[in-house]
Amino acid sequence: MSIINHPGPEISEAMAREIAERHFGLNGPISRLASERDQNFHFGENGKGAVLKIVNAAEPEQALRFQVAMIGHIKRIDPDLAVPPVRLSRSGEELPVIEGSKGERHLIRAVDYLEGSPLAEKPKSPALLRSFGSFLGRLDRALRSFGHAGAHRDLDWDLRKAGRSRARLAALHDPEERGICEYFIDRFERIVEPQLMKQRASVIHNDPNDWNVLVSDDGNEISGLIDFGDALHTALIAEIAIAAAYAILDADDPLGAVGHMLKAYHQELPLQEEEVDLLFDLIAMRLVTSVTISAERRPRIADNPYLSISEKPAWDMLRRLRRIDPHIAKAILRDACGFEVAPGARKASAWLATNRKSLVPILRRPLSNHRILHVPFDEPSHPLVKAAAAMDVDACERAWQALRQAENAELGIGPWGEERAVYAGQMFQSKLIRDIRRTRHLGLDIFAEAGTEVLTPLAGRVTDVRIEREPLGYGCVVLIEHEPEPGLSFSSLWGHLSHETAKHIHEGQTLQAGERIGTLGDAKDNGGWLPHLHLQLVAYASDDIEPIPGVGEDAYLDLWAKLYPPAYDFAGLTPETFHRDGKDGNEIVAIRTQKLLPNLSISFRKPLKMVRGEGAWLIADDGRAYLDCFNNVAHLGHAHPEIVEVLAREASRLNTNTRYLHDNIVNYAEALGATLPGDLKVATFVCTGSEANDLMLRMVRTKTGQNDMVVVDWAYHGHGAELIDISPYKYKRAGGQGRKPHVWESALPDSYRAPPDWPVKEYGRRFAESVARQVEAIRKAGKRPAAFIAESIPSCAGQIFFPPHYLEEAYRIIRDAGGLCVADEVQVGFGRVGSHMWAFETQGVIPDIVTMGKPIGNGHPLAALVTTPDVAKAFNNGMEYFNTFGGNPVSCAVGLKVLEIIERDHLRDNAKEIGDYLMGRFCAMQQRHEFIGDVRGMGLFLGLDLVTDRSSKAHATELANLIVNLAREEGVLIGTDGPHDNVVKMRPAMIFSRYHADLLCDVLDYAFAKAAAAA
Ligand SMILES: Cc1ncc(COP(=O)(O)O)c(C=O)c1O
Repeated sequence: MSIINHPGPEISEAMAREIAERHFGLNGPISRLASERDQNFHFGENGKGAVLKIVNAAEPEQALRFQVAMIGHIKRIDPDLAVPPVRLSRSGEELPVIEGSKGERHLIRAVDYLEGSPLAEKPKSPALLRSFGSFLGRLDRALRSFGHAGAHRDLDWDLRKAGRSRARLAALHDPEERGICEYFIDRFERIVEPQLMKQRASVIHNDPNDWNVLVSDDGNEISGLIDFGDALHTALIAEIAIAAAYAILDADDPLGAVGHMLKAYHQELPLQEEEVDLLFDLIAMRLVTSVTISAERRPRIADNPYLSISEKPAWDMLRRLRRIDPHIAKAILRDACGFEVAPGARKASAWLATNRKSLVPILRRPLSNHRILHVPFDEPSHPLVKAAAAMDVDACERAWQALRQAENAELGIGPWGEERAVYAGQMFQSKLIRDIRRTRHLGLDIFAEAGTEVLTPLAGRVTDVRIEREPLGYGCVVLIEHEPEPGLSFSSLWGHLSHETAKHIHEGQTLQAGERIGTLGDAKDNGGWLPHLHLQLVAYASDDIEPIPGVGEDAYLDLWAKLYPPAYDFAGLTPETFHRDGKDGNEIVAIRTQKLLPNLSISFRKPLKMVRGEGAWLIADDGRAYLDCFNNVAHLGHAHPEIVEVLAREASRLNTNTRYLHDNIVNYAEALGATLPGDLKVATFVCTGSEANDLMLRMVRTKTGQNDMVVVDWAYHGHGAELIDISPYKYKRAGGQGRKPHVWESALPDSYRAPPDWPVKEYGRRFAESVARQVEAIRKAGKRPAAFIAESIPSCAGQIFFPPHYLEEAYRIIRDAGGLCVADEVQVGFGRVGSHMWAFETQGVIPDIVTMGKPIGNGHPLAALVTTPDVAKAFNNGMEYFNTFGGNPVSCAVGLKVLEIIERDHLRDNAKEIGDYLMGRFCAMQQRHEFIGDVRGMGLFLGLDLVTDRSSKAHATELANLIVNLAREEGVLIGTDGPHDNVVKMRPAMIFSRYHADLLCDVLDYAFAKAAAAA
């Protein structure tokens, strides 16, 4: 006969009184307490006193000895923990023996009565649940060091044995109920049991159900735990699982309730991730055990109400748990313990943030490069939202188009986490929380035309494809698993695709980064929504779309952010799209006009406020990324991480001047000299190109004893007073005071506008004759030239490329007259031309002085002058050269790094390859667009000379301006230059790729076509 069906003791109250008095000296009012298989009597008033237990005669003595030892151990380790201390009998025994009414032998035991009401009768506030969790944590912590032979028992209530429930399924007659139990038993056998055996084992109470747990009068704290009758040695995690199974029975948010308990438990006794991963199933299995045992016993012990006391709520809870996705349940519980919501989840988000730049855009053009508007699904009264809620597709489309036109937007986005009123249907009822609707959007919506192609930013394997046909469903939806690194995997969900998509993509298919997934569906294909993509990240590898919620509960928003993190990085949206910082652009313009020199100019008709640079991109304050094809300073790309790193490292170490010895400056001078031909080996470091040219003027004058300079027409050499004097681009234009007598202008060698009667192959020599004329004029004035200075490719003059032999001839003429030759490489140096490091090399000359700036420090204010030992020696006339900032260790380290990266990353080769490609496309464009008069370029230094008429070559100034502004609208930054501002000028970073080049050309093509249509 088992203990369950062994009849309980039958001791009358009178006998109980007598026994209590005799053995323990207990008296006072007596009352019976409920017990499944023993008899319990309470002695005492007002909740005080003691409990006398008459133990079931079938209970093995060792089990009782074990319980007594267990309580004793707990009391020794944690004396304040409210478990009932065992009283010694008058004869000093813990477990005296009595004889029952039928002569059977019963052990008896007296323990202190613990005050409090059963937890079952109390509202389970978060504070109370936390108190419960920490109570159990303390209890189990105390029990970690306890062992007893009696603890090794075989009980159906042992969660390790929960699989026995399968044998009891026959007792369940309702197929739905049996189905639920089978579901959890299957999971238990398949997933839980094999793991559970590996987890930590311990002696546990094993039955902290809400009738065994007592609560203080104020309802906020656990005041005691009773009934150690089911205690045994089993998996440690079973304790909190069992407690939770009962504590949540009436909870609106059962997993939230478990979370409160678990967090507090974990603080007292840290659990392991693997244990927590089993908890959801173990909670369910405790309930399965309970309902199946009840069902099995019902015919036999129909009159024992204790057994079925929690049956109805248990079934209700099992139904609710059955509907919850175990991934989500696990995530909630893991999160409560501070573990990542799914193994690797944090790594996945961090990986995406770090590797953002290497992801391929999800549309043919980068998402962030578009004109984007926020679709106001968070405004319940907006016509678009009303139409969507009413499922009026046409009205929705009309509202969307109106909005799009009003904001001149190309795409709409619906952000992650947005609170939306549109989710009204039954399908949006919460499965986690009773009577709550799900309202928070867990994907990123991208509203674009039906038929728009979407591409995977990252290689992956398709794990699920399906078509949801019901209204408000996804239409075609695809799930892809990505494993960018071994052991790091996550999924992406692509909803609202066309049904056609499903024909071309199948489960198990692998996709390369940039490969097409499918196209956006129209309203009839995608559940009745406005065409859009719902893109959702899933922090774990999944092969089932069904349980992944696209909309979540507000209360769990923090969890959703970890489990289904915003796909912004993944989709290529910039963080600035959602968080605008600082002053508004108009405000800045207003302050600038008041507080800054009004001479500062601002690019574009609609000024841009830039907040960040990244590679070839500049990001504006509204988050839009513009392809920067103009700024030649960010030579290696904006915010190059290695440059940023070296800058920060060196700045944190030392920043002084050249009066101290330092490695950086000499290392840099040697490295820079090594890139230059001939004797160009002596360097001076300054901070701007103007400073370099200013120093150049002093040098050539000191060396030659002469003052006069020969310059090229429309040249620009800097903003200093003496430099304006040698810059026709400045002194001949607005505000300029004309040419000074010591400056001599030679003609701009513009082959495109060369006199028509000149033979092409003589251009170089013919233009150089103009230099000879200036030298002659100087001679006639009784002087000699100090120097001839030329930009190696005149830029401000309109991206002018010298005809062959021009510089060779010009240098010869100047040198013959005793002057020095200076190459201004401020714009074009450092490999920009691709074929050579220095643009003067393309002309086969070696200057006496080279000045450098702009790209030299990738944005750091650094510039240099390099000359020959001969010139340097002559300059050393006794006057010290001191430049406070020039040559400081930080700048030199940066400069050195720039040189290193140009070489290491073969950026000259890239400039050549992409430059050639661009020239090819520009020439093709020239065939289509009449007003592209001339296409000029070398490497990544390029210009399009725009004319109103190809025969007159009249400068198309207005048009150039229009093109630049149209390109800006399309997200591409270019500029104009030349004395007539009719040359479209492009100088992109040396990392410019073919993808970037195509984007630039497509936009230019579009702009030219649009301008032509408007003309
Ligand atoms: C050819 C050339 N030289 C010199 C300078 C002056 O450089 P910075 O502006 O660094 O003083 C510039 C600036 O645009 C330039 O284009």
